[in-house]
Amino acid sequence: MPRPIRATLRAGAFAYNLAVARRCAGAASIWAVIKANAYGHGLLRAARALAADGLAVLDFEEAVCLRQADERRPILLLEGFFETRDLPLLVEHTLTPVVHNAEQLEMLKRVPPAAPIDAYLKVNSGMNRLGFSVDDVRLAYRTLREHPMVRRLTVMTHFADADGPGGVAAQLEWFERMTDGLEGPRSLANSAALLRYPQTRADWVRPGIMLYGCSPFGCADPAHSAEGLGLVPAMTLQSELIGVQHLQPGERVGYGFSFEVTEEMTIGVVACGYADGYPRHAPSGTPVLVAGQRTRTVGRVSMDMLCVDISDIPEAYIGTPVTLWGEGLSADEVAAAAGTLSYELLCALAPRVPVVEVE
Ligand SMILES: Cc1ncc(COP(=O)(O)O)c(C=O)c1O
Repeated sequence: MPRPIRATLRAGAFAYNLAVARRCAGAASIWAVIKANAYGHGLLRAARALAADGLAVLDFEEAVCLRQADERRPILLLEGFFETRDLPLLVEHTLTPVVHNAEQLEMLKRVPPAAPIDAYLKVNSGMNRLGFSVDDVRLAYRTLREHPMVRRLTVMTHFADADGPGGVAAQLEWFERMTDGLEGPRSLANSAALLRYPQTRADWVRPGIMLYGCSPFGCADPAHSAEGLGLVPAMTLQSELIGVQHLQPGERVGYGFSFEVTEEMTIGVVACGYADGYPRHAPSGTPVLVAGQRTRTVGRVSMDMLCVDISDIPEAYIGTPVTLWGEGLSADEVAAAAGTLSYELLCALAPRVPVVEVE
């Protein structure tokens, strides 16, 4: 028998969350960001479930995998290409690269694609990660615009703090100044910008995390939590109790004896550990559902197991279902307790966890 752990992936949730994105996007088209194996949800599964206008991925491997699965929609390569031998693949698989540095421009000049391609020009509007800065952006634009093998050219940028206190105003203003007079469509918004700043919609939006039913804003503010935003989790990570221990005050739990019992307590041992993708740094007190009831983890998370307090859940016994995150317990909340983001939790789902697909 396999271990009782599994991740349930709900196709209807992707569709539901995409509908939320559509409502926010207005007339803008949607790139569904499905990089990193669709944030841990499975690249092809997410592509099938998301009726977006295009699919945004990180690299050629993901893009080719989509094309081999007969995917016909536009595919955006968020980091573009890396070397000249990548260039024929753009034509062969009809891929739209993001061009974000001078080396890529040089490669396009040296090894022009054999047929016209669409491209995105990435502008560094202040995040200082990828993109052309104010001194280079106009030359880069002109180089691409005049390139005989570049057909449609879209100008894009990425926001550093659309989910945070900084917002988008400064980057948006700078982007508009930097690209003033440059013709062509625009693409700016990630999930947070799409949900919070309608003025960033432009022509193509690029939501990721919201499609999976998590909030880019975390869970601190109920109005901006996943539930408050009307999003539903696409992934539910579940397991079962495989052990029960009755403990007396003074007894301790798990590696490092990091948790000490202060009053009589019953703990359940869950078949889920950091090798399944559960965050090892989740402290005692991280929320968890046992038999649908909310309780907390106790002690350190180990490789294959973690412990939970079931003192107030008398019916809990070996075989009782446990939800680590997903339906009934947002991954945003678990992530917050563990000092991280739901993005990291979802992406970290381990390949060894069996996946069950449901409608
Ligand atoms: C360039 C770009 N656009 C859009 C996204 C989607 O962001 P989010 O998942 O926050 O919606 C990402 C994700 O990191 C990104 O790198």
